[in-house]
Amino acid sequence: MTEFLTRLVHGRSQNDNNTGAVNVPIYTSSTYAYETASSKVKYDYSRSGNPTRNYLEEQVADLENGTRGFAFSSGVAAIHAVLAIFRPGDHIIISRQIYGGTFRLIHEYFERWGIETTPVDMRNPSEIEAAVRDNTKAVYFETFSNPLLEVTSVRDVSGVASKHGLLTIVDNTFLTPYLQQPLDLGADIVIHSATKYLSGHSDVIAGVVAVRNEELAERIYFNQNALGGVLSPEDSNLVRRGIQTLGVRMDRHLENAEAVVHFLVESPFVKKVFYPGLEDDPGHEVAGRECRGFGGIVSFEVDDSVDPEKFVNGLELIQLAVSLGAVESLIELPSKMTHAELSEEEQKKAGITPGLVRLSVGIEDAEDIVADLKQALEAASENQGR
Ligand SMILES: Cc1ncc(COP(=O)(O)O)c(C=O)c1O
Repeated sequence: MTEFLTRLVHGRSQNDNNTGAVNVPIYTSSTYAYETASSKVKYDYSRSGNPTRNYLEEQVADLENGTRGFAFSSGVAAIHAVLAIFRPGDHIIISRQIYGGTFRLIHEYFERWGIETTPVDMRNPSEIEAAVRDNTKAVYFETFSNPLLEVTSVRDVSGVASKHGLLTIVDNTFLTPYLQQPLDLGADIVIHSATKYLSGHSDVIAGVVAVRNEELAERIYFNQNALGGVLSPEDSNLVRRGIQTLGVRMDRHLENAEAVVHFLVESPFVKKVFYPGLEDDPGHEVAGRECRGFGGIVSFEVDDSVDPEKFVNGLELIQLAVSLGAVESLIELPSKMTHAELSEEEQKKAGITPGLVRLSVGIEDAEDIVADLKQALEAASENQGR
């Protein structure tokens, strides 16, 4: 059983002869009986190991071609457990464009515990080289950045990292293992906010990690058990179920994103479209080489004649909400929502203008998504008659 869609649906084979259940049961038990006090048991306490969570963890390891997987109570909890393998005095090179919650965790939490960081543009290997110090231990980045969808080459970064003996840590939330498997491109640790595409239905907060080797697995497992931010059995089941339909959902996300991009590029109410699938996008070539598709997130800047707030408020089908990767289309204004904690100056530096819109294209009928964008853009423009 080697084909990817089959692996998504079936995971590892089960041997539940007691009931014949074709899905892994939700094991709610917090503790597990020993036959005798000296018995060797696989499970003893659910923070340390739970069969439902364990199924998801093996599913994730398999899909990322890793040795082991881990499931956490959020994407941020997953990132916490990964970065907690480092010690005070260690230095990590971080991409300048990272998710705000990761930025906060690194700069307002880990730096307090003595982890040093240098922000760089990961698309530029010479910047990474220049940032390497004696105490550098890792590089950390997102494959497609948020919200401008800048593309970083996992091969290029991991090439520089391995030359200096550094770990390559990749947040692959935007692409999922269906579109890219960073471990195969040289990364050592992959992280996902499973809240997004892996679960896919905006009904769970979760994070997962997959690692290249057993030594890293032991370090992450220690943190998972010691910090305790594990995913519940119920939520593990939701993510497991979401993963079974990842392939068909992603295919539809990609198809719809293409239709939306086609409309936006032609629209007189749109100034600029950010999507690595566009041939003139700076990340097009790298994404074409390293990914099996360009993802379901599209960002764009509305024309100066359009009031961005009026535009998003005027949408009828597309939900005005943060988060992404769900079956329903979600839209947001980064300057006012996901990136509101950045000052005006910081937003400007990051390329986040008041007219920038991030759209997570859902799996509805593409015509309905496009029609909603069209009516709201027209209604929000001073030049409605154009
Ligand atoms: C790229 C990325 N990584 C990590 C996270 C954090 O995940 P969670 O919200 O599940 O904690 C997010 C959340 O938006 C994200 O977009």
